Amino acid sequence: MEITKDLFNLDGKAAIVTGGSRGIGKAICLGLSTFGASVAVTGISRENEKTVEEITGRGGKAIFIPCDVSVPEDSRRAVARTVETFGKLDILVNNAGVATVDPAEKVTEEEWDRVIGVNLRGLFFMSQAAAQVMIKQGKGGRIINIGSIFGITGSEIGASVYHAAKGGVMILTRALACEWAKYGILVNTIGPGFIKTEMTQSIQESPELYKLLRDRHALKRFGVPEEIVGAVVFFASDASTFVTGQNLYVDGGYTAW
Ligand SMILES: NC(=O)c1ccc[n+]([C@@H]2O[C@H](COP(=O)([O-])OP(=O)(O)OC[C@H]3O[C@@H](n4cnc5c(N)ncnc54)[C@H](O)[C@@H]3O)[C@@H](O)[C@H]2O)c1
Repeated sequence: MEITKDLFNLDGKAAIVTGGSRGIGKAICLGLSTFGASVAVTGISRENEKTVEEITGRGGKAIFIPCDVSVPEDSRRAVARTVETFGKLDILVNNAGVATVDPAEKVTEEEWDRVIGVNLRGLFFMSQAAAQVMIKQGKGGRIINIGSIFGITGSEIGASVYHAAKGGVMILTRALACEWAKYGILVNTIGPGFIKTEMTQSIQESPELYKLLRDRHALKRFGVPEEIVGAVVFFASDASTFVTGQNLYVDGGYTAW
């Protein structure tokens, strides 16, 4: 196996990213495009079109496909349109997610279903839709899940359902990695620490909570979305051909203690 500077090159690859309108998902779309991939930016708001415009403005290839991942039929349609547009599918990034801050004793059944429906059930059926295509193509593929430090650690901030969903993502990653290894589909998870996005806006605006959570990172700061991109490119590229079923924490040392 020859080692070249092309190790991280994604030229000619076709990717689909869920929840590409803002935050981590947007950075991932821009990152994959920067390394050469064509990107299907999917999501539930027209804001995703701005991500597409940014990519095409820089000379990259991208399209917006409306897709609510909590509706498996939407995911199947999005995968089909990606293949129609780019001729194939190589990379799926399951980024779409929602968070809650409800004390566990007050969580409703609707809230449980909403968070699990997007973060875990939605991720599973999107992965299934992508894998069906990848298996048919016969050339393997990459599935990269955005998990969380909350998939492995607990917290007192009222995020029990989110913890359950992200913990599920981590073990699902291992299960799918084992099942789909025979097709050459590598499945991995990235577990971000706290990242400055709209999802964590209310925490950033609460001095006490912000300090409490910031100081749990060894680096004593929140990250920014762009700091997740390197791990995504690693998992999407030839740099990780022998890596599957792993959870990589990009967390400023939150889980290092
Ligand atoms: N921000 C953090 O500190 C942090 C930490 C760990 C993990 N994460 C995870 O990273 C991912 C991105 O989070 P973010 O911080 O960028 O959040 P964000 O709220 O800024 O963005 C979430 C994205 O998901 C989309 N989305 C929500 N529901 C959807 C649905 N049903 N179908 C399709 N798209 C949907 C939103 O429209 C948006 O584009 C999530 O999975 C989140 O759980 C975030």
